[in-house]
Amino acid sequence: MCGIIGISSNKSVSASIINSLKKLEYRGYDSAGIATLSDGEINEVKSEGRVDSLEKNFDLKNLKGNIGIGHVRWATHGVPNSVNAHPHSSYNVSVVHNGIIENSTILKKHLISKGHNFKSQTDTEVIVHLITENLKTSELEDAITKTLKQLHGSFALGIVFKDMPDLIVGARRGSPLAVGYGPNENYLGSDSYALKSMTNKITYLDDGEFCIVKKDQVNFFNDEGKKINKKILELSSDQANYDKGDFKHFMAKEIEEQPNTIKTGIKEYIDNVNKDINIPNFPWKIEDITSITLIGCGTAYHSCLLSKYWFEELTSLDVSIDIASEFRYRKNRFKKDTLYIFVSQSGETADTYAALDLCNKNRMKTCAVVNVIESSIARDSNFVLPIHCGPEIGVASTKAFLGQILILYILSLKLGSLRGDIKKISYQEKIKDLKTLPKLIEKTLLLDNDIQSISSTFNEVKGSMFLGRGFSYPIALEGALKLKELSYIHAEGYPAGEMKHGPLALIEEGMPVVVLAPRDNYYKKTISNMQEVIARGAKVLLITNKSKNEVVSENIWETIEVQDTNDDLLPFLLTIPLQKLAYYSALKKGYDIDKPRNLAKSVTVE
Ligand code: M6R
Repeated sequence: MCGIIGISSNKSVSASIINSLKKLEYRGYDSAGIATLSDGEINEVKSEGRVDSLEKNFDLKNLKGNIGIGHVRWATHGVPNSVNAHPHSSYNVSVVHNGIIENSTILKKHLISKGHNFKSQTDTEVIVHLITENLKTSELEDAITKTLKQLHGSFALGIVFKDMPDLIVGARRGSPLAVGYGPNENYLGSDSYALKSMTNKITYLDDGEFCIVKKDQVNFFNDEGKKINKKILELSSDQANYDKGDFKHFMAKEIEEQPNTIKTGIKEYIDNVNKDINIPNFPWKIEDITSITLIGCGTAYHSCLLSKYWFEELTSLDVSIDIASEFRYRKNRFKKDTLYIFVSQSGETADTYAALDLCNKNRMKTCAVVNVIESSIARDSNFVLPIHCGPEIGVASTKAFLGQILILYILSLKLGSLRGDIKKISYQEKIKDLKTLPKLIEKTLLLDNDIQSISSTFNEVKGSMFLGRGFSYPIALEGALKLKELSYIHAEGYPAGEMKHGPLALIEEGMPVVVLAPRDNYYKKTISNMQEVIARGAKVLLITNKSKNEVVSENIWETIEVQDTNDDLLPFLLTIPLQKLAYYSALKKGYDIDKPRNLAKSVTVE
């Protein structure tokens, strides 16, 4: 989604802005642009497409200026073209913006009546003209305070001014924004990835705050324009994770990193000496929690859905799950003894953040299961359980999914044990089994060749289905999501038992149907459902676990066998072939695997 970079320096900034914009490419975008200040002028360049197009279309080496802002845009208002690309400028103000201005139509009418001319179809352009207007009657801090109050919706902003060539203004409401500190220069960035190659010293703005960034000084202000002090944080350096290494795509690398994701999670949360799970500083008494609500979007929602089965199996807690964009607008009955768990890789997803904010405002117990520990969701939750899987750059979530489900499984085990819902012996056996998981995932990753050849068939069809029961149902949903987002093939995930209630009508000769039927309690039922789709012409890819027992049907098109393990852990293994299936389908089609069309890594607008 949109990304912002701003640099105020004692040397030329265009090359560093381009570099940082490239770091933001993983977010997914459709146009890019830069504005620098030099010789009393705003120099604005922008282009449809990738940062490469910007470099091709303009002589950026000669774009002068020691101060500048850059942007990658993911279109919300107005088609993706160079006119709608950011920055947007008036004669004296240039703005880059992440988010959505909800009252832009009214503001635009008002500004046009005052003689302002608009060039683009964007909501952002109203910000440019509002500031221009407010600067006619107010000094900088007051003009910014006044402008921010006039805006409804969400924003992170970077602003430069022709007549103030030594500063950048940054402002935040709803969309994240950070300030970075370097030698003889300071920065503004919509996330720490953009800034990490330049600095590890960062300050995050909170909602309603703005800042003035100069090369040797940064000042912060609250929503009333009063100066405030903010802490500087030091980020960990994990630069190697931002490199594809020998892999063709970040997604391929991230799939292969999954044994490590699990190893790190186990190292962080399992106490080997006492054969126990260690969740330090858990802030609540166990008897004060009688129910759990898990909330997320997309893949993170699938993690929530899967964990419902674990929480119900291993604890006597009441469990509900919710899609964040639905939760935030429903009339929720908030209960003091409910623990609200927010699951997110980025920790910046707008809907998930809004759901958290709602719970915080109602003084609920809030816990974040996130990957980016400096993120807004992590910072604003009462308690954080980090995933520790390292940066995930590919838009399709892979290792973060396994990281999330690992943490949720560990939490369900721990709460089950603390509440006395599972016996000690079973608890310790499950911990012992968990430690075998990295090896089992390593072996499952070797299924590569089989999946490569199967993926060709998927590319020749209009649609496909993914079926599962119990723990395998959320994995079916996740498999369908991966296939559609990467290879643009229509894919539906369904509980296998639901087919007769409608979806069976879709089955026709040759349609690929992926059936997840591990040899768990649901096996026989799922195999019956499988036979029903085979009888109607479906080409079934059966994914199950290794067993001495033969598979019961002769008419299965292909079978993939993952390693055998206890039922709780099978979802981890079943996920791997589905990730690879989506990857190889997209690869054969020649699609942009790490940046699928229309999608963004971090969905910071609702
Ligand atoms: O950063 P989050 O985990 O909050 O992101 C949620 C979804 O946007 C994300 O999982 C999305 O569905 C993925 N692209 C799926 O691969």
